[in-house]
Amino acid sequence: MVTKTLSILFVASEVEGLIKSGGLADVAKALPKSLKKLGHNVSIAMPAYITIPGRDDADILLSTKLEHWPHTAYQVRALDVDGVPVFAIECAEYFDRAEMYAENNQAYADNGERFAFFSAACLDMLPKLNIKPEIIHANDWHTGLVPYLLKKRYSNDAFFAQTRSVLSVHNAVFKGIFHYDEIECLSEFKSHYVPEAAVSHSHVSLLKAGVLCADKINAVSPTYAKELLTELGSHGMANEFQSREADLFGILNGCDYSEWSPEVDSFIPKQFKANRISMVRGKKACKAALQAEVNLPQKDVAVYGMVCRLTNQKGIHYLLPILEQFLKNDVQVVIVGTGDPFLANQLAEISAIHSDKFAFVEAYSNKLAHWVEAASDFFLMPSEFEPCGLNQIYSMAYGTLPIVREVGGLKDSVIDYDTDSENATGFSFKKPDPIELLLVLMRSLLLYSQDLNEVKRVQLHAMTQNFSWDEAADNYLKMYLS
Ligand code: GLC
Repeated sequence: MVTKTLSILFVASEVEGLIKSGGLADVAKALPKSLKKLGHNVSIAMPAYITIPGRDDADILLSTKLEHWPHTAYQVRALDVDGVPVFAIECAEYFDRAEMYAENNQAYADNGERFAFFSAACLDMLPKLNIKPEIIHANDWHTGLVPYLLKKRYSNDAFFAQTRSVLSVHNAVFKGIFHYDEIECLSEFKSHYVPEAAVSHSHVSLLKAGVLCADKINAVSPTYAKELLTELGSHGMANEFQSREADLFGILNGCDYSEWSPEVDSFIPKQFKANRISMVRGKKACKAALQAEVNLPQKDVAVYGMVCRLTNQKGIHYLLPILEQFLKNDVQVVIVGTGDPFLANQLAEISAIHSDKFAFVEAYSNKLAHWVEAASDFFLMPSEFEPCGLNQIYSMAYGTLPIVREVGGLKDSVIDYDTDSENATGFSFKKPDPIELLLVLMRSLLLYSQDLNEVKRVQLHAMTQNFSWDEAADNYLKMYLS
C-alpha cells in the first residue's frame, strides 16, 4: 500500500463518460478515478472536442495562447468525470470537427499538428493554472510529445523541476508517424533533426519520442510488456523498447465494476447477480431481448457475441474464413462494431445470407455493447494482438465466457477450459490460424451442447473473478514513486 499523496495529471486523447472510441477511454476514466479514491490529487487533460456534450456550457478557466511559437490561441474548459476534474483544451481550428481522429475511415490530414499542439498546450497551461503535477501520465502516440517536451523544452524550467513523466502504451501499432513538415508547429521540429523521434530523414514517430523520453513506460499487461521487447510484438520498435527495458512496466488494466457489472448495469434489460438462479434468469431475459433487438429468432441456443473495432487486430480475418462453417451448427453469432469497410462488407454479406443465425450491427453503440456482454454465452476475441483487451474482462463479469487467442492481456486474464477446467474462465487458442479458431469454437459448443450445467458452473466461476482497478492503481503508484 502506497501512503505518500501524489499529484498526477493524466493526459489522454479520449475519456469515457465524455467521449470514447476504444479501450483507451475506459482506462482514462477508470484509472484516475481509482487513484483519486486512494486519496491522490488527480486531474485529466484532454482535447475539448466540439462533440463533447456540455462543452460549451463548461466554465472557461483560462483563455490564453502558447508562450512558444506559433503562439496558438486556446482556452481551457473545466469538465468533470465522476468527480475527477478535467482540463479540456479548446482550439476550434483543431478540435471543432465531426470526429476525433478520422472521417469515413480517413485520418484527418493534420493529425500530427493537432496532437502536437495538444501536447504543447497541456504543458503550457500548467504554470498558468498554477498546477504542478509530480507525475504527468501520457497515453499512446497522441500524447507522446508530452514527455519529449517536458524533457527538452522545459528541462531548465524551475516550475517543472519536480515533474516526472510516464507513458502508457495501449497500442504500439499506432506510432503517430508524420513528416517533419506536419509537426512544424513545434519549433523543436522546424528545420531540425530530432533523434528522439526520427524514424527516417524525413519522418518522425510521436510514439517513439514518448518511449525514449518518458521517465517510465507502461504496457497495459505483463505479457504485452514482454511482447514490446520483440520486433513482432512492438511492430518494429524493439530497439527502442529494449533500450528502455529497465523502465518498462506491465500493469494489467482493471474493470470499472460501477460500469460493467450485471448487478448495477442500467443498460441491460434484466440485471442479475453472481448466483446460479439469478444468473440463469438474467442471462435468459437478456438473450431474448438481444435476439429481438438484432432480429434473430427467439431461441435458447448458444449465442456468441463480439464487440470491437473492425480491424485485423481483433482477428476478424481469422473469423471470416470459418464463420459460415461455424454457422452450420445450431448457434447464433452477433457482431457489433465499425471500422474497416472491407471487413464490414464481408460481415454484412455473410449476415445477409445467414440472417437466421448471424446478426452484424455496423454501429458503435455503448448500449448494445452492454447487451451483448450480458446476453451472450461466449464472447469472441480471437485477436492477432491485444495489448490488454477489456471486453474479455467485462465478459467474465457477466458470466459470458471469453474465447481468446493467447496473446497480450488476453493471455494474462483468461484461463482455458481444456487446460484447467477447474479454474477455467473461458477458452483460448494459440496459433493465429482460422482453423485453430474454428476448433476452439467447436470445443466451446461441444461443452454447451453436452454439458450445459458445466458451462453454467464455469460462467459462474468467471463472474467471481475480480479485476478491480484498485490493485492496478496500487501498481501504478509504485511505478510513479519509482
Ligand atoms: C487499446 C488496446 C486494448 C487495450 C486498450 C486499453 O485499445 O488495443 O488491448 O485494452 O487500449 O488499454
